[in-house]
Amino acid sequence: MAKAKTSFFCSECGQETSGWLGRCPGCGAWNTLVEERKADPSRAPDSRVPWVVAGNGERAAAISLGQVVPDQDGRMPSGMHELDRVLGGGFVHGSLVLIGGDPGIGKSTLLLQVLGQLSRTRKTLYISGEESPQQVRMRADRLGLDSSNISLLAATDFSTIAGILGKDRPDLAIVDSIQTLYVEDISAAPGSVSQVREAAAGLLRLAKGLNITIVLVGHVTKDGAIAGPRVLEHMVDTVLYFEGERHQNYRILRSVKNRFGATDELGIFEMSDQGLLEVENASQAMLSGRPEHVPGSVVTACMEGTRPLLIEIQALLNESAYGSPQRMAQGVDRNRVTMLLAVLDKSFRFGLNNMDTYINVVGGIRLTETATDLAIIGAIVSSLKNKPVRGGSLLFGEVGLTGEIRSVAQVDRRIIEASRLGFKSFILPGSCRQMLAKTRLPDTCDLFYVDRVSEALDILFD
Ligand code: TYD
Ligand code: MG
Repeated sequence: MAKAKTSFFCSECGQETSGWLGRCPGCGAWNTLVEERKADPSRAPDSRVPWVVAGNGERAAAISLGQVVPDQDGRMPSGMHELDRVLGGGFVHGSLVLIGGDPGIGKSTLLLQVLGQLSRTRKTLYISGEESPQQVRMRADRLGLDSSNISLLAATDFSTIAGILGKDRPDLAIVDSIQTLYVEDISAAPGSVSQVREAAAGLLRLAKGLNITIVLVGHVTKDGAIAGPRVLEHMVDTVLYFEGERHQNYRILRSVKNRFGATDELGIFEMSDQGLLEVENASQAMLSGRPEHVPGSVVTACMEGTRPLLIEIQALLNESAYGSPQRMAQGVDRNRVTMLLAVLDKSFRFGLNNMDTYINVVGGIRLTETATDLAIIGAIVSSLKNKPVRGGSLLFGEVGLTGEIRSVAQVDRRIIEASRLGFKSFILPGSCRQMLAKTRLPDTCDLFYVDRVSEALDILFD
């Protein structure tokens, strides 16, 4: 008997290799390659689905894009503004959306809440492969939802799910989670790369063919035991990730891919005992409980998608007890922090080489903008000097290797948001002067343009 063809797949990114390797050549993750039987390439896609026309092209014909009738119904708002913002204005009909996140972060809770709202006016279906109908009902009751219009299907077998979707044709279907689904023709276990991929490909065909919006829930796993959502990122239309510390209340929903809207857009929620609440005044929420006039704490304004957000950055520096100092960064790139420490050390000879440095972005949010550089430097020097920064000041700017301060985008929106929350002194790149020349800012704003880190530090600690 011929030996079954197998390959090794990375459970993080789906990369295929012919032999086992300790490290995935695709994404660099360690110990994530697992052996799986290869999918049979001779199997054609399901030709009953009109959107995908299989075969030799007899039934296929190219059409003029002008003849395609646009969707008149527009988008389908989810009933939650924060989610709509991340989606770019609501669910697009017939799209496939992936919501990823650590187990227990609140994916099922969010989606059940969405169904609670949408099921009043739309036909919806919740496909649960993880929880029994009783458990879903318990959650719905806890969330105070009207369960009467929510259809529920407890199934994990793809053909059953496809049959029900074809028969019921809901407007929105939730699959919780993609890692519990299995396609019968594939011998691998549910959650393996080939199962997850094949099930998602099937759902993609159904979504497009039947014009059903399908939301897939995908657990992020660190140990590689089940395939992660990244395996699917290239297939789906929209990828949203739930971030935040499980033990903190804020949950951040971030779009990392969106065929129908902007990426890097954020939605902010708070987990309460009645489920996820939308946080409308995000900057205020992020700054609540902030200690004022203490060393090592600085506020900056970042742009997250289209919205400015005020964030507190904290630094703690201590003389190191060991030969090599600790460098820890929570919420910002550790390498960036190391670079900023090097810039500071070169210019000011602070002796940071034997200091343990801890940087923390409050609220569990992850910042990627380089506009936060100046604030990180401000927090570091404030902790080092054990001196609070100038009261009511907010700083932003990218820092270059020579200690120069470089321009950032959308300065006006950052300043207006901060002044709304009572900030008065703004330390910002000199090159932003032109950008602000025509903007009318509130009279209370005091702008300090700086071109070098040393100038910023003089103002912060005068
Ligand atoms: P859940 O949505 O089950 O997470 P996921 O589907 O991403 O695995 O979230 C479960 C967590 O949320 C759990 O720790 C309990 C908490 N929670 C609340 O705090 N309040 C609530 O009203 C609900 C329903 C859950
Ligand atoms: Mg869940």
